Amino acid sequence: MTAAEVIDGKAFAARLRAKVADQVAQLALEGLQPGLAVVLVGHNPASEIYVRNKARQTLEVGMRSFEHRLDAETRQDDLLALVERLNRDPAVHGILVQLPLPAQIDAAAVINAIDPAKDVDGFHVINAGRLATGQDALVPCTPLGCLMLLQDRLGDLSGLRAVVLGRSNIVGKPMAQLLLGANCTVTVAHSRTRDLPAVCREADILIAAVGRARMVAADWVKPGATVIDVGINRLEPETPGGKGKLVGDVDFEAVKEAAGAITPVPGGVGPMTIACLLANTLTAACRATG
Ligand code: GUN
Repeated sequence: MTAAEVIDGKAFAARLRAKVADQVAQLALEGLQPGLAVVLVGHNPASEIYVRNKARQTLEVGMRSFEHRLDAETRQDDLLALVERLNRDPAVHGILVQLPLPAQIDAAAVINAIDPAKDVDGFHVINAGRLATGQDALVPCTPLGCLMLLQDRLGDLSGLRAVVLGRSNIVGKPMAQLLLGANCTVTVAHSRTRDLPAVCREADILIAAVGRARMVAADWVKPGATVIDVGINRLEPETPGGKGKLVGDVDFEAVKEAAGAITPVPGGVGPMTIACLLANTLTAACRATG
């Protein structure tokens, strides 16, 4: 058994951003500059890093970036008022409210207040419903990035067995919908699934999005399968070999001996998320102007 191909998400994301930048340059000739507004409430350290990276990459592809930082005690009404303002602002084509939100705010109420045409996260119920019913939707960025990596490696996915490990609204559920749309036979597995290893072993495509460090072991993977690792877990400093290292939901070193292809962490799915966010913002801007 030869070791798996390591899928280079970082390089793929860079190519996607370059394509977005080309199209942004084309739009500039028509006098249109796409704009993305990002709203951050409070001081979650991981969110701060994401938001900084988003802003930098938004500017790098030639779009306008609007950052709104609100303090952790912000009231829901004030956040809703900001969302309303952004909905009405013609310079803003995409709106992203960074999650998680503080406890006093109902995240679903805020997400569903975003104009679905500007919902570049694809989290609004209208976009989730459109995706589930096979209509044109803005699609959540992480699963969209996973699908692109899969189609790049495997081509047509028709008839393949896909197992999605995790059922979140952000990754697991939209991932399953996208794979169904690509004609896979899809199983959504989760923490209550019986005999998880046996279910995962049926997969030609295994998507791990559970948020548990190195949970997927080598004997969970069918030889030759394509394994996409969405997890980003920081190991406790006291873990042997840990020292706060970032690892996925897959035991990479062991699984790469069984899989046909595998995404690393970091450098796999992670860079695809922001690239897809920029692609969604471009899509939203093009639709807004017909
Ligand atoms: N927090 C972690 N990932 C995401 C994401 O993709 N979008 C938003 N809005 N918040 C997040």
